[in-house]
Amino acid sequence: MSRKILVAVAWPYVNGEPHLGHIAGMNVPADIFARFHRIIGNEVAMVSGSDMHGTPMMLRAEEEGTTPEAVAGRFHEIWAKSHADMGFSFDLYTHTHTDQHRDVVHDLFNTIKEKGFLVEETQSMPFSESQQRYLSDRFVEGTCPHCDFESARGDQCDNCGRTLDAEDLIDIRSKRDGSQLIFKDTTHQMFTLGSFQEQLEEWVASRTDWRQNVRNQTLGMLREGLRSRAMTRDIDWGVTVPLEGYENKRFYVWFEAVMGYLSATKAWAENQGTPDEWKKFWVDPDGETYYFQGKDNVPFHTIIWPAILMGYGGLNLPTDVVANEYLNLGGADFSKSRGNAVWVPDFLSRYEADPLRYYLASIMPESSDSEFTWAGFHAANNNELVATFGNFVHRVLTITTRNFDDAVPTPGDLDNDDKAALEACDVALKEVAEAVEARRFRDGLRAAMRLARHGNQYVDAKEPWKVVKTDKEAAGTALWVGLNVISTLRTVFYPYLPTSAEKIHSMLFSADAEDSNVLADGWKRREIVPGAPIEKPTPLFRKLDDSIIEEENARLSGE
Ligand code: MF3
Ligand code: ZN
Repeated sequence: MSRKILVAVAWPYVNGEPHLGHIAGMNVPADIFARFHRIIGNEVAMVSGSDMHGTPMMLRAEEEGTTPEAVAGRFHEIWAKSHADMGFSFDLYTHTHTDQHRDVVHDLFNTIKEKGFLVEETQSMPFSESQQRYLSDRFVEGTCPHCDFESARGDQCDNCGRTLDAEDLIDIRSKRDGSQLIFKDTTHQMFTLGSFQEQLEEWVASRTDWRQNVRNQTLGMLREGLRSRAMTRDIDWGVTVPLEGYENKRFYVWFEAVMGYLSATKAWAENQGTPDEWKKFWVDPDGETYYFQGKDNVPFHTIIWPAILMGYGGLNLPTDVVANEYLNLGGADFSKSRGNAVWVPDFLSRYEADPLRYYLASIMPESSDSEFTWAGFHAANNNELVATFGNFVHRVLTITTRNFDDAVPTPGDLDNDDKAALEACDVALKEVAEAVEARRFRDGLRAAMRLARHGNQYVDAKEPWKVVKTDKEAAGTALWVGLNVISTLRTVFYPYLPTSAEKIHSMLFSADAEDSNVLADGWKRREIVPGAPIEKPTPLFRKLDDSIIEEENARLSGE
């Protein structure tokens, strides 16, 4: 029976363009996982959207002299286009500023409130006398009480990762002008996180297959003890609060953004005319939900969102929270330009998506921070994709079409090398599946690449381009084996390099290109049928000139 897999991707703040760090940490792993589960026959919904609320949008709007809505709307389009250009297979990519999302948020809020987990409290909040307004989390900074980091924000410390309340900050000041702030009384809805302490502890203890970083961060927070936190703010940009007296307040951005996973699944189900379909993932006890994100998002997905779900009742808790460390810009030339980034739209204006997906998956920061370098990208493209994978595919298809009338040759008896190559196909299918299922995406990519290397070495040894002149049947056998390896490469690389996999498919199975694709063939070695037509190949990957390394480094350092 097929499993139901919700692939929940973190909702980016759309106060700027996506950069490589964003997509390496959440979209690339999520898309590999989603495509893998689709091709092995599971039901998948991959959803996310732009996180339009919160202070990041307000800050940017203030800088630009425009509205947060205008900023969010503009960058939402750019993110959505980048996702499409990268081949990310979202079933829905929406945003948080929709009526539908608001209604879902109100429903969750009302129910949790009825159950007594949201209580009104008068709190003292940072207030700027010069601006005559309350300053929310990101407009204030101060020293972290846990690690002494001097520019901790009002909601979280970027140094030690702990969530904070503004009151915790030592020496609190306005981020904008550094002025001292006073604390002034205001009324808010407090979420009684402490009510879920034991339930969360039990649940987290049962999640033994989570990554170490996620588990440890979460256990650390639980050990310190959970306390109530305000879920409303004195701001005018965000989701409205359905309570009298709260007309000038909005929900805390994290409270409603995490609800986007649910509202987006519902919106997706509605859009496709099956409004109850969301329940497969959220209500059916065997629905599985996987959350992909950067490490700074962990507490919101392992504590706050699960607590909301527990408070509401009847909805599935996260199966796994797959958080990556950071992808930094590396290379000697970048040391002067920290803070700089490689932007996705700019990258895609000069290079293809698949090589980028390949390189980002190969350096994915799964257990520690990693570095993007242009030299690394260049090497991965030229040495691995072009010289190994692309070269193997191109040689086999070229020799086949040239010498066998654009059709699959008929194999003779198989020797040990032939059998070993076919076995390597089965091994790759098994290893890639195991790794991706376990959210070990780098390992999966390595296993796929091992098969390409095996295929390349196999044809090197068999030399069908020479043999064909003296022993056509022997050459035909080697090519038939090679075509089987290519057929398998098409499958195991599909989650990672979907465009290249489809391209291989159309060359290899040109006869049925219209009614079939890699996805339809499933996770197995599709047999190569003697006599079937083969298309003349075009190169899968493009070799990059050595000069791009220097060019791109110069661009990055602003020269
Ligand atoms: N907008 C947040 C960030 O960029 C992530 C929100 S994830 C969600 O860090 F679950 F809250 F939506
Ligand atoms: Zn800290």
